[in-house]
Amino acid sequence: MNPVYYHILHVFALLVLTAQTFAALANPAPEGRRQTVILTGIASLLMLISGFGLLAKLYPGHFPGWAIVKLVCWLGFSALAGLAYRRPHLRGKLSLLGFAALLVALVMVYAQPF
Ligand code: HEM
Repeated sequence: MNPVYYHILHVFALLVLTAQTFAALANPAPEGRRQTVILTGIASLLMLISGFGLLAKLYPGHFPGWAIVKLVCWLGFSALAGLAYRRPHLRGKLSLLGFAALLVALVMVYAQPF
């Protein structure tokens, strides 16, 4: 498959995941929990699949250091929506963690420092 489709899927899933995560952090009402868990779960999985699709297409045969850091950011960010419902009193700190994970992942992909 043309990597451009992986790019589109990766960024689209990132937007959905980010929107749903911060919506949950802003208002972790129990009524919305099921829908949020489903949507963030699907978006998170699509990000991972498209990320590895891009790696296979653009960097065949190796796994760069910046991709490992992105993987850690992805793991942390994907956990935030669930945590928002279980630890609502930590929402402020979880939001800051989310911003940090996004920033680090973006620096990794655009600067590719290692
Ligand atoms: C929170 C986590 C992540 C964020 C915010 C993120 C964000 C992005 C963005 C904005 C792009 C650039 C798209 C473009 O320029 O068209 C990108 C590309 C990419 N991402 Fe991610 N991503 C994340 C997680 C991952 C994961 C888990 C992987 C796989 C291990 C991955 C692998 C890649 C690859 C290989 C590219 C293409 C890099 C290139 O064009 O040279 N990303 N990502």
